[in-house]
Amino acid sequence: MTELTADLIIDNGTVVTDSATFIASVAIKDGKILAVGAADAMPPARERLDATGLHVLPGAIDVHVHFREPGYTHKEDFGTGTAAAACGGVTTVFEMPNVIPPTGTKEALALKHKLAAEKAYVDFGLYGLLGEDTIANVPDLIEGGVIGFKLYMGNTFGNTPSPSTGGMLEAFEVVAPTGKRISLHAETASIMARREAHMREQGRIDPLAHIAARPALVAIEAVSRAAILAEWTGARIHILHISSAEELRPLREAKARGVDITGETCPQYLLLGAKDYARVGSVIRVNPPVREERNQEPLWAALADGTVDMIATDHAPHVPEEKIRNDIWTADCGFPGVETQMPLMLTEVNKGRMAITDYVRWSAANPAKIWGLYPRKGVIQPGADADIAIVDLARHSAVDDAKLQSRAKITPWHGRKLHGVPIHTIVRGRFAMRDGVLCEDARGWGRSVHTIQQMPKAEPRHQGDTMLAIGRTPAGSEDAA
Ligand code: NCD
Ligand code: ZN
Repeated sequence: MTELTADLIIDNGTVVTDSATFIASVAIKDGKILAVGAADAMPPARERLDATGLHVLPGAIDVHVHFREPGYTHKEDFGTGTAAAACGGVTTVFEMPNVIPPTGTKEALALKHKLAAEKAYVDFGLYGLLGEDTIANVPDLIEGGVIGFKLYMGNTFGNTPSPSTGGMLEAFEVVAPTGKRISLHAETASIMARREAHMREQGRIDPLAHIAARPALVAIEAVSRAAILAEWTGARIHILHISSAEELRPLREAKARGVDITGETCPQYLLLGAKDYARVGSVIRVNPPVREERNQEPLWAALADGTVDMIATDHAPHVPEEKIRNDIWTADCGFPGVETQMPLMLTEVNKGRMAITDYVRWSAANPAKIWGLYPRKGVIQPGADADIAIVDLARHSAVDDAKLQSRAKITPWHGRKLHGVPIHTIVRGRFAMRDGVLCEDARGWGRSVHTIQQMPKAEPRHQGDTMLAIGRTPAGSEDAA
């Protein structure tokens, strides 16, 4: 028998899965988890890390980040964005297509793959843009390697035009048989445009005007409409950044009807509220808006009961000059979040808000399952990628915008107290952060994760009646059924 030597053993930490915690050692070899078990059952190793008293979590999977490259690299690029992820315990990110040029063609996708692979500290999936003009590009984008698609039902940063309901239906019809999930910015553009125009006419420029322009109704209407189209076509959809209590009803009802619909919320909707507008001013402007405090409890409850599946961040960096404005309509929407999500949530674990196993379910296991990456990612068990966040639940800290890795050093979290922070991040066996410090030599280590590992078969519906099919088949013929 040849001697087996692990590359690294993490000794005696508390390993966390989505359902259990237990003290164990974790052996890593060739980027994968080799063994999980008693310290004295481990093979010899080149390196051992004592994790006594620390928690060993699957690295977070953040399915909603904007890294701005190409086109807006003064805000962020794949290097700074994934460095922020690494320093936040996040080992995989799914990155959005609202860049210049938008990631809606095979050329734009190939360029982004190249830029990301050169600089990424963590693994990444790239979203393809699904808009009125890119429906025909779906096969090319899948061939080029996308984790899924992004469809903008409402305007937001980048002003990607939102498809008509007809365009959206056709897009769903085309994507449904591929099994790829469509992530939706679910706010209805036409409602927001009219409300904002009226408020501008009346001279409202204060931060709270942003909530008034985009009330929960825009999200309720969009989620409901998207769920109907997903139900009809069998397309898999994901509702991004759920911000209100009222959106939960159409989401819950669609799930109960068997629609393959999932949802995320973000720390800003769980932990911030309308009162914070006075404190941080225009910096808080984000789409959808941070809402009245009464929404927080229902969102937490929806995570707990599984209506909302996961926590993502919508990491949306803009530099201070673009954020600090007297006229709210001129402040860019969004702020960084990929680096602060884990410590903010661990702080809630420490407060007793949820168990650490719940956090792992929402931050790692569920995202991996929902995009077909499980059990390669999202769990610490033999055979999985060694994507690990080692956290110290006892450590106290505070958010300091100036110390963030993001190029956009401005957030509404500045000064917020933290209790529980990631201290080491390992991506496929390699340190991306060690003792709280970014490992520069991990730049370029991140790889694309667009291949679905395990997913139920796609179940497209009404395929004989799609826009493309009715063009091919004479009306009334048997095939049209
Ligand atoms: C995002 C951005 O800046 O790219 N902004 C935001 O307010 N959330 C876009 C988005 O996700 O809507
Ligand atoms: Zn969005």
